[in-house]
Amino acid sequence: MAQHLSGPASLEGQVALITGGAGGMGRAIANAFQSAGAHVIATDRAEHEDIGPGIQYRPYDVTSRAETDKVIDAVIAEHGKVDILVMCAGIIARTPLGDSSDDEWDAIMSVNVRGVVNPARKLFPLMCERGFGKILAAGSIAAKNGGVASGPAYVASKAAVHGMMRWIAKAGAAHGVYANTLAPGPVETAMWANVTGGTSAPSANTTVPLGRYGNADDIAQAALFLCSPASNWITGTSLDISGGMWMN
Ligand SMILES: NC(=O)c1ccc[n+]([C@@H]2O[C@H](COP(=O)([O-])OP(=O)(O)OC[C@H]3O[C@@H](n4cnc5c(N)ncnc54)[C@H](O)[C@@H]3O)[C@@H](O)[C@H]2O)c1
Repeated sequence: MAQHLSGPASLEGQVALITGGAGGMGRAIANAFQSAGAHVIATDRAEHEDIGPGIQYRPYDVTSRAETDKVIDAVIAEHGKVDILVMCAGIIARTPLGDSSDDEWDAIMSVNVRGVVNPARKLFPLMCERGFGKILAAGSIAAKNGGVASGPAYVASKAAVHGMMRWIAKAGAAHGVYANTLAPGPVETAMWANVTGGTSAPSANTTVPLGRYGNADDIAQAALFLCSPASNWITGTSLDISGGMWMN
């Protein structure tokens, strides 16, 4: 088994693929990784997006296995490898359990769970073969505390992501493949604006020990740590980034 000793938070020479790359967190992560020396391919639903200087963009729908495989095959044909996979694509709903429809459950599980399964099942075996890979998924504080402003389908989908990443961590460890999960509290992106729905969110002063909601750069720095050699003795973890809202 290859030894990966811990080192600086540099991604020099690495190829990183990011889903949800046009969203708040995904875009910040793409730019942070690009600044750390990675070649970044950001993906999202929209046809055209300018994510940032030097960042390649490819549109695709994470719920489709065929589209996922096609995009990853194209990236590997062009760059020869994918070292880092970060999965940020996600959707949310607040509907209470008794009112939640099959369609809503299907939509949320499809993007939030299958959207992680699809890229992971394509890349995990390839990373194992190469003897290296860092896989990171956006989970949520919701998987631990039952949700801040989310409905049960979202909470269940994120719990599935945390569990699946632990499976990958365990299976990948002997092959040099790492898997970790981010567990953010409320982060001020389009998704948070969507859940608070134009109404004013509860004051961060009273709900967040550190006195503010998160921003996308808070998440990007944690992602950089977990995808760089700085975290080479960390796998299967779920990193709480919540201003102290959740303390393990
Ligand atoms: N914002 C928060 O408070 C918060 C907290 C905890 C976890 N998260 C999770 O972090 C991740 C990133 O969230 P964000 O806050 O940046 O939200 P965001 O809405 O800004 O970004 C999510 C992105 O996912 C993309 N997406 C949705 N469905 C897709 C599909 N079928 N195919 C491809 N792309 C698709 C959207 O277009 C969007 O750009 C999500 O998984 C979210 O559940 C967010």
